[in-house]
Amino acid sequence: MLGMRFYGHFPLAFLWILIAGSETFLLSKGGITSTFIRNEEKSLDMPLESDVFRVSSGYNAPQQVHITQGDRTGKAVIVSWVTEDEPGSSTVVYWSEDSSNKLEARGKVSTYKYYNYTSGYIHHCTIHNLEFNTKYYYKLGIGNTTRTFWFIVPPKVGPNVPYTFGIIGDLGQTYDSNRTLGNYEMNPVKGQSVLFLGDLSYADEYPFHDNLRWDTWGRFIERSAAYQPWIWTTGNHDLDYAPEIGETKPFKPFLNRYHVPFKSSKSTKPLWYSIKRASAYIIILSSYSAYGRSTPQYKWLRKELRKVNRSETPWLIVLMHAPWYNSNIAHYMEGETMRVVFEPFFVQSKVDIVFAGHVHAYERSERVSNIVYNIVNGKCTPVYDQSAPVYITIGDGGNVQGLADNFTEPQPAYSAFREASFGHATLEIMNQTHAFYAWHRNGDIYSFQADSLWLYNRYWYPMNDSTTIN
Ligand SMILES: *[C@@H]1O[C@H](CO)[C@@H](O)[C@H](O)[C@H]1NC(C)=O
Ligand SMILES: *[C@@H]1O[C@H](CO)[C@@H](O)[C@H](O)[C@H]1NC(C)=O
Ligand SMILES: *[C@@H]1O[C@H](CO)[C@@H](O)[C@H](O)[C@H]1NC(C)=O
Ligand SMILES: *[C@@H]1O[C@H](CO)[C@@H](O)[C@H](O)[C@H]1NC(C)=O
Ligand SMILES: *[C@@H]1O[C@H](CO)[C@@H](O)[C@H](O)[C@H]1NC(C)=O
Ligand SMILES: *[C@@H]1O[C@H](CO)[C@@H](O)[C@H](O)[C@H]1NC(C)=O
Ligand SMILES: *[C@@H]1O[C@H](CO)[C@@H](O)[C@H](O)[C@H]1NC(C)=O
Ligand SMILES: [Fe+2]
Repeated sequence: MLGMRFYGHFPLAFLWILIAGSETFLLSKGGITSTFIRNEEKSLDMPLESDVFRVSSGYNAPQQVHITQGDRTGKAVIVSWVTEDEPGSSTVVYWSEDSSNKLEARGKVSTYKYYNYTSGYIHHCTIHNLEFNTKYYYKLGIGNTTRTFWFIVPPKVGPNVPYTFGIIGDLGQTYDSNRTLGNYEMNPVKGQSVLFLGDLSYADEYPFHDNLRWDTWGRFIERSAAYQPWIWTTGNHDLDYAPEIGETKPFKPFLNRYHVPFKSSKSTKPLWYSIKRASAYIIILSSYSAYGRSTPQYKWLRKELRKVNRSETPWLIVLMHAPWYNSNIAHYMEGETMRVVFEPFFVQSKVDIVFAGHVHAYERSERVSNIVYNIVNGKCTPVYDQSAPVYITIGDGGNVQGLADNFTEPQPAYSAFREASFGHATLEIMNQTHAFYAWHRNGDIYSFQADSLWLYNRYWYPMNDSTTIN
C-alpha cells in the first residue's frame, strides 16, 4: 500500500528523475518551481450518465447526502440530503456503534427556485449531544426508501489531540475532480474531515447556471461527504449572482444546500464562521463578502481572534478562497485588498496556516508578512516573519477550467514551492507543537507526495520550520 502510494503507476526510472533530476526543478532565489507535467489534456466534465452521478434506486431515495460539523466543538453534526419525488421525512434515525438504542432527530425541508430550475426537497437535520470519539450509524428516508451511512465524532477538543485534515479546493466535477477525490480516499494518510476551500460545483459554467449540476455535484461527493464532515468555505463560483436572468441573491444555491454552524461562533452569516475540532481552531472567511473596517465580517473577525485560547486549541488555521500570497498569473493580487485589511491581525495572533483556493495550481509560501507599509515609507516587500502563517494555495481540485500553468517569473522569494498540477493536501496534527503537512499530486489511482514539511506551532514552538530559507 505504502509502496503504491509513492510509485503509483509511474515507472521507477522516471520517478527517480522526478525526485533527483536537476532538470525537473528550476531552483531560483525564491524556492522551487516544479515543472512536472502529468498530461496536457483539458479537464472535461463527467457526462450526466456517469457512475458517480447515479441516483440511488427506490422511490424517493435520499441522495446528495453530506455532513458537516453542527456546533462549536464537534458534538453535533448537520446531515443534509435531497429527495426528488416528494418531501418525505426530514427525520434522521441514528445510533452509536455500541448501542442498539435508536434515537431520532427532526430536521426541516425546503426548496428553492433558480431561474427556471426548481430544486428537489432539501433536508437539513442537526443531531446534537453526540459522544466524542464514537462511531454512529444514521438512516435517512424514513417511510419510503431508506439509506444508512455512518460517521465518527471527533475527539474532545484539547491541546494534544492528534487529528488529520484533508484539504481540497475548486473541485468541480471533471474526470480530474474524480481523480482528486479518489486519490484522497486512497491516500494511506487518512483524512478525518475535509477542509474545503470554495468553488464547489461550477454549475455557473453552464447556461443559466444549470442548477442540475449542483445536484450532480452533491451526488458525486456523497461517497466521502456522507461519511466525514466537509467544512465549507465559499468561492466566486458559489455566488451564482446573475442579474441578467433575474438572480440577484448571492450564494442562493449554496446557502440552500449547504448549512454550516455559523451561529455557534456568533457570526451573523453562514459565509464566515469558526469551529473548534480536536486541537485546531478553524476560522472560515468570505473573500466575496464585505470585509472593510466596520463591516460585519471585520467586526466578527476582530472579536473572534481574541477568543482563541491556544492552551485549548494550539493550532490556529484560516480558510479563505482568494489567496493573499500567490505568484501565479491567474488571479494575481485578487486577494490583495483583504490582505491589507486582515494581515496585521493574523501576524499578531500568530496564525499557523492559511489555506486558500481559487488559483488552479499548487503553491506554498515561506513565513512572510507585509504589514509595515504605510503608503510613504516604501517598505512594500514581504519579509520573513516567524510570527506569520504559511500560506498554501490549493485550488487544484481539477475543475473544468483546467490548470493555471503560468507563473510569474522569477519566482518571488516568498514562494517556497509551486507546481501546476491537480491534487489534494493533508495536515496531520501530531500534538501541540508538531504537524506534518503534505501535498499530493494526482495520479490515476494513487497520488504522489510532491511537497511536504513539518510545521511547528507558532504559539508553542515558534522555531524556524522553513526547509529553504537561510
Ligand atoms: C430553462 O431554460 C433554458 C433556456 O431557455 C432551456 O434550455 C431549459 O430547457 C429550461 N429548463 C427547464 C427546466 O425548463
Ligand atoms: C412513501 O411514504 C409515505 C409515508 O410513509 C406513504 O404515505 C407513501 O405511500 C409512500 N409512497 C410509496 C410510493 O411507497
Ligand atoms: C470515479 O472514480 C471512482 C473511484 O476512483 C471510480 O469507481 C469511477 O468509475 C470514476 N468515475 C468516472 C466517471 O471517472
Ligand atoms: C484556556 O484553556 C485552558 C485549557 O482548556 C483553560 O484551562 C483556561 O482556563 C482557558 N483560558 C481562558 C482565558 O479561558
Ligand atoms: C503568461 O503570462 C504572461 C503575462 O500575462 C503572458 O505575457 C504570457 O503570454 C503567458 N504565457 C502563456 C504561455 O500563457
Ligand atoms: C510531538 O510530535 C513530534 C512529532 O511526532 C515529536 O517529535 C515530539 O516529541 C512530540 N512532542 C511531544 C511533547 O510529545
Ligand atoms: C531555517 O531552516 C532551514 C532548514 O532547516 C535552514 O536551511 C535555514 O538556514 C534556517 N533559517 C534560519 C533563519 O535559521
Ligand atoms: Fe475561484
